[in-house]
Amino acid sequence: MKRSKIKALLERDTPIDNVLIKGWLRTKRDSKGFSFLEINDGSCLKNIQVIANESLENYENIKKLNIGSAVAVNGKVIKSPAPKQKWEVYADLIDIISITDESYPLQKKRHSDEYLRTIAHLRPRTNKYGAVFRIRSEIAYAIHKFFKEKGFFYIHTPIITASDCEGAGEMFQIVSNFDFFGKSANLTVSGQLSAELLALAISDVYTFGPTFRAENSNTRRHAAEFWMIEPEMAFYDLQENMELAEELILYLIKYALTNCAEDIELFAKFIDTNLIKTLDTISNSTFIKISYKEAINILIKSGKKFEYDIKFGIDLQSEHECFLSEEYFKSPVIIYNYPKSIKAFYMRLNDDNETVAAMDVLVPRIGELIGGSQREERLDILEYRMDEIGLPKNKYWWYLDSRRFGSVPHSGFGMGFERLIMLITGITNIRDVIPFPRTPNNLEF
Ligand code: 4AD
Ligand code: MG
Repeated sequence: MKRSKIKALLERDTPIDNVLIKGWLRTKRDSKGFSFLEINDGSCLKNIQVIANESLENYENIKKLNIGSAVAVNGKVIKSPAPKQKWEVYADLIDIISITDESYPLQKKRHSDEYLRTIAHLRPRTNKYGAVFRIRSEIAYAIHKFFKEKGFFYIHTPIITASDCEGAGEMFQIVSNFDFFGKSANLTVSGQLSAELLALAISDVYTFGPTFRAENSNTRRHAAEFWMIEPEMAFYDLQENMELAEELILYLIKYALTNCAEDIELFAKFIDTNLIKTLDTISNSTFIKISYKEAINILIKSGKKFEYDIKFGIDLQSEHECFLSEEYFKSPVIIYNYPKSIKAFYMRLNDDNETVAAMDVLVPRIGELIGGSQREERLDILEYRMDEIGLPKNKYWWYLDSRRFGSVPHSGFGMGFERLIMLITGITNIRDVIPFPRTPNNLEF
């Protein structure tokens, strides 16, 4: 007996006499003398239709099955007479693995996103969330594939750290029942500083892992726990850094359009009717690249009323970012050379002593997808910047050592994985692209 996932079965070119499938009942329709069971095992969006004949010895029990019950079906794969499906399974034996009753919260009607968040332990069983989590998996794979093809090394950076990479003070503290580390410890906000040390040894590296931020911002784009992809490259300048970021995004969108087509079509049908057009346009675009100064000028000249006033020196808010990429350029935009006052200590100081070699990639509907920079490789200037900001240099002795010995120009960036998945699916709330989101006042499941 050959056990098959439904995806593999639906992709077959030839029928088979004997197959075993296991999955959950999505719908059932009883007819005279037999029933149609729609079975889904999560391997793909589509169900397989199973025909249960009344001659089955447990037919009376099968007839009573509710949505969500689990079954194992032995049978023949035959050509389906129905036009919407290629194959169906004529059951020789149906084993009932478990049964649900009418209290099962996922009934056949459409449920709201808000309601489904309250049953996040069950929502992966819906078409929409099954598709989201399959896409997450495919795209995570594509990210590794992209970097592997470019000769990058996948590195693992610590989750428990004693340093604040971004210097924004948004760290979760870690406590134990005794003073475990002999110093205060926190969950990492970014693996960058460690990634830099590896890049200064094996050149091109990336880390892809969970990061944590205690920002008290209850927005659609912020989670307290999210995944970040952080490449770090020795001998790259800001220009090369921007080009890599662009290449990565284009690669991933094309990958999704080719390899997740069925799931993306579901989002195009129910979430965002322009989705495929938007993704196609992005994947054929060249990203606009403008300096922060130019961006500020465009925002001022636009005459548009923003909640936050525009002047040189402000941090761009999501309303500004969305205006630039969604309304003004209608394309992804990379903004570079930000004022040093609003960016982290490690970014390379430009000759104007006012801006740093930072870059943010903004995309339609999401705003900031990537933040990165060329790093300050000059020891004296790095120390000067740390003093200026008031960072304790002795705490970062190891980081400064990397500039003391064999320092070279290098660059990198961080891409928010959830925001990428939002871009690819058209989903507008970060809570709906991560299985069990962590946000202020929300630590269920
Ligand atoms: O711009 P950020 O803060 O950059 C860094 O952490 C750098 N150290 C990365 C690097 O250069 N290696 O964060 C990078 C990206 C953002 O552009 C955004 O997409 C995502 O991480 N991000 C969040 N995603 C979800 N929830 C949050 N609270 C996020 N904060 C940042
Ligand atoms: Mg940022």
